[in-house]
Amino acid sequence: MAPRELYELRRRVLRAGRADAVVAHPADDAIGTLHFAGRLGAQIVVSASFFVAPGPREATHQLRYMATEPAVQGRGFGRRVLVVAETTLASVGVRRVWANARDSALGFYRACGWSVLEGSEHLSAETQIPHTVILKDLGPAPS
Ligand SMILES: CC(C)(COP(=O)(O)OP(=O)(O)OC[C@H]1O[C@@H](n2cnc3c(N)ncnc32)[C@H](O)[C@@H]1OP(=O)(O)O)[C@@H](O)C(=O)NCCC(=O)NCCS
Repeated sequence: MAPRELYELRRRVLRAGRADAVVAHPADDAIGTLHFAGRLGAQIVVSASFFVAPGPREATHQLRYMATEPAVQGRGFGRRVLVVAETTLASVGVRRVWANARDSALGFYRACGWSVLEGSEHLSAETQIPHTVILKDLGPAPS
């Protein structure tokens, strides 16, 4: 799957379908970036991308562009793609991940085991939408 295959879902779900919205990230094709997605038939209906980016508390990878197709939200696809992503990241030694979460999605992230960084509430410079920094530990270091 090429990152550009995710752009339509990113645009539709995260940028209200705006044709002029920038939905490509400069590091989409970078070594170390990991994209996860799920299809129903031919259509990509859920995606999550992890970028190498230092965050708070020594987190090393940032989740961006978490999105589920509106018609199938609430069916567990978001959780499933995060489980696969987090398991994969843990298997290559990633210990802690972070994200700027939309406040409207905090319940989803909490349900998926992420924690809020107290005092990190802010407006996104890109979208002006309220966000909060979240973190998740991916498990103990391998022995
Ligand atoms: C947030 C989003 C990715 C969740 O994906 P989803 O596929 O609908 O989520 P799931 O069905 O896997 O839900 C997993 C759990 O989170 C809960 N949940 C999902 N969205 C929630 C929300 N907005 N608020 C509170 N809880 C939520 C579900 O009830 C479920 O809990 P349960 O398993 O205990 O019943 C999806 O709603 C979405 O794309 N929203 C618009 C874009 C967005 O805000 N993306 C995040 C940007 S930071």
